[in-house]
Amino acid sequence: MSLVANSNKEVKLSEKALARIEELKSRFPEGKKKSSLLTILHEVQDENDNWLSVEAMDKVAEVLSIKPIEVYEVVSFYSMYNQKPVGKFMFEFCHTSCCVTRGSEDLIDYTLNKLGVEEGQVTADGMFSVKATECLGACGYAPMLQLGDYYHEFLTPDKMDKLIDDCRAGKVELLSKV
Ligand code: FES
Repeated sequence: MSLVANSNKEVKLSEKALARIEELKSRFPEGKKKSSLLTILHEVQDENDNWLSVEAMDKVAEVLSIKPIEVYEVVSFYSMYNQKPVGKFMFEFCHTSCCVTRGSEDLIDYTLNKLGVEEGQVTADGMFSVKATECLGACGYAPMLQLGDYYHEFLTPDKMDKLIDDCRAGKVELLSKV
């Protein structure tokens, strides 16, 4: 199975994103513009429904004047970049030692069953997906997940029920205002 997916859509970046990309590139001298790649990928992912299609990665290669393979290899290395479509609400569960010890694997199974999807799939309504990820640096609050810019901690099945209900009710912030 391919790790990358085509969207079959032309990627058009907004004026705001293009301006931000130019500002990021300007922080580095000629010949070193590639150093802005990670941040630019976040910008483009944010504008592309939170995932990076082949077309989106090619667009990044174009704006940085680098080869597409240089973008693909970075995107495939870091788990914060999504190589397939994801739900509007993507639960990124930590499944490293502290969280596993505190029940994250059962919680992942519970959430997948409740949503009726496998890991990496998107619910039919496009609302949710679940991803297991490595330590998110909040081990003292295990088990935890990241949703957008926010951490949700000391999770239990009841807390997951409430979080899912709140997402459906439009009560959950994804992006911090900072
Ligand atoms: S082990 Fe889960 S946040 Fe570190």
